[in-house]
Amino acid sequence: MNSQQPVIQLKNVSKTFGEVRSLSDVNLEIFPGEIVGLLGDNGAGKSTLVKTIMGFHKPDDGGEIWFKGEKITDWSVAKARSLGIETIYQERALCEQQPIWRNMYMGREIVNRFGMLNVKAMKAEATRLMSEHMGFTSVAVHPDNPVQTMSGGEKQGVAITRALHFEAELVILDEPTVGLSLSETKKTLDFVQNIKKSGRSAIFIDHNIFHIYPAVDRMIVLDRGKVAGMYKKSEITMDELIESMYRVARTGNLKEQN
Ligand SMILES: Nc1ncnc2c1ncn2[C@@H]1O[C@H](COP(=O)(O)OP(=O)(O)OP(=O)(O)O)[C@@H](O)[C@H]1O
Ligand SMILES: [Mg+2]
Repeated sequence: MNSQQPVIQLKNVSKTFGEVRSLSDVNLEIFPGEIVGLLGDNGAGKSTLVKTIMGFHKPDDGGEIWFKGEKITDWSVAKARSLGIETIYQERALCEQQPIWRNMYMGREIVNRFGMLNVKAMKAEATRLMSEHMGFTSVAVHPDNPVQTMSGGEKQGVAITRALHFEAELVILDEPTVGLSLSETKKTLDFVQNIKKSGRSAIFIDHNIFHIYPAVDRMIVLDRGKVAGMYKKSEITMDELIESMYRVARTGNLKEQN
């Protein structure tokens, strides 16, 4: 067992929408420097789980969210962001009509000593960061350009740069490679490795197990809102994992039942 304190810990987190119980008594923890893959079929509750961690959904009564050993009772999007939780998912993570520099500094604007926005500094920094972190040189990524004019991969780059620059403690990637080209996908997967190298943590959701398996330290399998299993990568080969995912989809059980 890991003796470190988890960055984030969920205790008995359930989430019900009307009749639908999307999460059911979920208990899990993410440790510093750990990349955790979240797996499960369509509708298993993966996005609901990460939206709860990012403060978008409130857990049903009785569910608890702990951050670095402290129970947080006023969990919200603003709270989660202020604690360094960044979410990256294609398109929706950014404000489409706003220029790149605005998106980069949303909620963390650089202000001068009179409290006025220092637009010049933010634009210059945005340009530097985009080229340093993501190797962007394309004219499409001028800091004044609205995000809606960018490609999926470029948008992803803005969100990733933002997470890196503000030294997120926990980065959540919900299907970040959907619709990306091969080279953009590679950039995203490289980024996941950078998160780990810098000692920070990530939760990584991707339907492509060939993206997940090489990138992660541990995998959590969700099935119909429940944690169906957890594996350290050292405990399971990719083939066994694929086999076990099929089994969960078929039977709801992770292991062969005798
Ligand atoms: N805001 C909501 N209102 C009502 N039901 C919801 C809401 N969000 C999610 N659900 C339901 O919760 C269940 C889990 O959905 P969720 O989006 O978490 O699944 P997922 O594992 O991310 O699936 P996918 O792999 O398709 O993205 C689904 O049955 C979904 O219809
Ligand atoms: Mg989802």
